[in-house]
Amino acid sequence: MKVLSIVGARPQFIKAAVVSRQMRRVGFDELLVHTGQHYDFGMSEVFFRELELPAPSHYLGIGSGRHGEQTARMLTGIEEVLLKEDPDIVVIYGDTNTTLAGALAPVKLHIPIAHVEAGLRSFNRRMPEEINRIVADHCSDLLFCPTETAVENLKKEGFHNLIGAADIDANRPSSIIHHQFQAPLVVNVGDVMLDLARQVKERLGGEGRGQTEILSRYGLQPHEYVLTTIHRASNTDEPENLRGILEAMRQIARRGLKVLFPVHPRTRKAMEKADLPALADTAGIILSEPVSYVAMIALESEARLLLTDSGGVQKEAYFFGVPCVVAREETEWTELVEIGWNRLVGAKTEAILEATEAILREDFTQKPRPDYYGAGHAAARIVNVLQWFVGR
Ligand code: UD1
Ligand code: UDP
Repeated sequence: MKVLSIVGARPQFIKAAVVSRQMRRVGFDELLVHTGQHYDFGMSEVFFRELELPAPSHYLGIGSGRHGEQTARMLTGIEEVLLKEDPDIVVIYGDTNTTLAGALAPVKLHIPIAHVEAGLRSFNRRMPEEINRIVADHCSDLLFCPTETAVENLKKEGFHNLIGAADIDANRPSSIIHHQFQAPLVVNVGDVMLDLARQVKERLGGEGRGQTEILSRYGLQPHEYVLTTIHRASNTDEPENLRGILEAMRQIARRGLKVLFPVHPRTRKAMEKADLPALADTAGIILSEPVSYVAMIALESEARLLLTDSGGVQKEAYFFGVPCVVAREETEWTELVEIGWNRLVGAKTEAILEATEAILREDFTQKPRPDYYGAGHAAARIVNVLQWFVGR
């Protein structure tokens, strides 16, 4: 069975790593296309090395650009690879421009598509990812959802062929009992990010040495710092929003909590352009380059709280039982806001500070954490369904 996986941006290397490992385990012939959307060492190669993702069989070297221009170049490059390789199925991840091109090229060639992380919706069409994910879902044959919320979103858009958890056994493809299933098929497999986050946290050895060493690089003590990441277009491209978030960081640091901020390249450029007062001058604020995934897991899991606009980081906070302030107006991970682990506050300084203070006052130790994201076997389920689908 020949699978062609398409990745290009940081969160995709992370999601693909865990699925790719499972594909190799069961003997799939997997080719990996890297569009080159992210290309800095710390945004790309570090993840291949650390997560043992095989080197891409095709590197398209697309780089940055306007949405249309970037997506068009990817589309041309991916189409050429597909014509040459003629895979049984294409696997795409998430909602970036790489996902969009990775959906459009194969659907036109009648090659089946599996979308990992299907069904997410923010209901904000000004968000570039919202358009990408809607198109990707509607081009796909297998829609692998991370949660029931995602399944419900797809039902509202007319998807009605569902495989339930009772229909698949993570280890036995033959256990898919309803062989009359027709694509497009929606399957709640759980979240691949939970699989990987758990594996890496275990590798770090709980309270072990690896973790202590990573925290000490930044002079941090467990539970005594805020970890923050910001990169959404709605925050970086709006100087008022960026200013609001950075000012909140500054005030949190003044209040005595250290703030570690690994800066996404997009945000670094926006900070330089917006001529904001230098954050680095504030005591207690630690700016760094983007960090590796293993470092990120160590830093997230030991933080007092997280402040972010990242999709992935919002959930990783929950995986580790760390409360999170979400600097956005809406989120795809609504269940975490409803249950009170995450607070959705936008980009205004006051709102961020208010949420931070409320979290610091609350005792989270006994707060329930339901298994919204499965049990850490999403990759096995995905590979199981792929095997059944291609072999049927
Ligand atoms: C992209 C995704 C976003 C995802 C994020 C993950 C789209 C539309 N957006 O956003 O959904 O959450 O990746 O991090 O696909 N840059 C570098 N070096 C790099 C990569 C980017 O300097 O290795 C800079 C460039 O100036 C570039 C800018 O960052 O123009 C934005 O990069 P781009 O890939 O277009 O979007 P992201 O903001 O990274
Ligand atoms: N991440 C990382 N290093 C960093 C920042 C984030 O390894 O410096 C990881 C993070 O742990 C998560 C993923 O990148 O697994 C999230 O990607 P990102 O925030 O870039 O994109 P999004 O999830 O918002 O699409």
